[in-house]
Amino acid sequence: MKTNPVAMIAGTGHSVPEKTLTNADLEKIVETSDEWITARTGIKQRYIAPEGVLNSDLSAEAAKQALEDAGVLPEDVDAIVLGTVTGDVNFPATACYVQEKIGAVNAAAYDISAACSGFIYGLNIANGYIASGQFKNILVIGAETLSRIVNWEDRATCVLFGDGAGAALVQPSKNGKGILSTYQKSDGRLAHLLMNPGHYTGKEYFDSNKEKIEPYIHMVGREVFKRAVRCMGEAVEDVMSSAGVSADDIDLFIPHQANLRIIELLFGKKKISMDKVYVNVDRYGNTSAASIPIAMDEARRNGRIKDGTLCVMTVFGGGFTWAATLVKF
Ligand code: ACO
Repeated sequence: MKTNPVAMIAGTGHSVPEKTLTNADLEKIVETSDEWITARTGIKQRYIAPEGVLNSDLSAEAAKQALEDAGVLPEDVDAIVLGTVTGDVNFPATACYVQEKIGAVNAAAYDISAACSGFIYGLNIANGYIASGQFKNILVIGAETLSRIVNWEDRATCVLFGDGAGAALVQPSKNGKGILSTYQKSDGRLAHLLMNPGHYTGKEYFDSNKEKIEPYIHMVGREVFKRAVRCMGEAVEDVMSSAGVSADDIDLFIPHQANLRIIELLFGKKKISMDKVYVNVDRYGNTSAASIPIAMDEARRNGRIKDGTLCVMTVFGGGFTWAATLVKF
């Protein structure tokens, strides 16, 4: 097994808005049922940010927890890398608002746009900063307020998504802990299957029925489903083989929390027991870039991740983008 990581996750945190939206609540908004949503997705509730609660508020809270967990002061943060597709404003970067809110006065702060894969892409950037010796304390955040880009009249998408933020403080590795292997890929040929054109496109977008795509989340669910299973499967295999480990060696798998059926199919195909798979999609829905760091922080705080836990995280999202990482905690 590979034993020389350069960067490790030294602290984590997460934050969600107070308000939940249950399947019963959704039954009052669109023609749907708890039964349909549960059977097709495994989702029971999601958190929704009320007006006035911003991505940067959730991110700043998650970041503060990660800093406290790692015992790092805000002024010692060298960089804030924030993965999101639902920042506070078009520009500046939401990471700059987070910088101001937590007092990370010495950091470089910017956002990356890789949809659901934003957090794992960000971890990879942090790994590179540490490897190059440029920075020592990097805050990686995944955060979304997807409720603001969902079409609340479209039952096929509005039941799926939720809001939240998760963060990790990345530092040079100690005692063999850290990121042992990483995998990242994209396929822009499939961008049209999962997108949000927004308001300022300079071009109109149409779906396969020639209907105009409105400035909300647009998703061809079945195509996304199939490719999510295949691509995360490849990503998981790749990080395990490049680190010289097998599924038996892994203590915990944290997949993107988009849909329980995707998760069960992904690990069922690999004959990996669901006992080794972290699932919280029932309580959060799909929080895109926030999904992995929320689950990771929960798992650390509830004891599923302990010192020495070998953990594979994998994600798939718009772009398409997909990624995985193998971490020793
Ligand atoms: N309630 C009740 N009925 C519904 C709902 C709803 N909320 N949504 C759709 N339906 C209906 C459809 O209208 C359709 O009815 P019809 O047969 O009369 O036309 C029927 O249910 C089946 O619809 P499908 O879209 O074919 O349902 P499917 O089994 O594919 O499930 C789902 C839809 C859950 C979205 C699934 O395709 C999926 O999970 N795809 C992947 C989505 C995903 O995980 N995306 C996130 C990954 S990327 C990222 O995180 C951004």
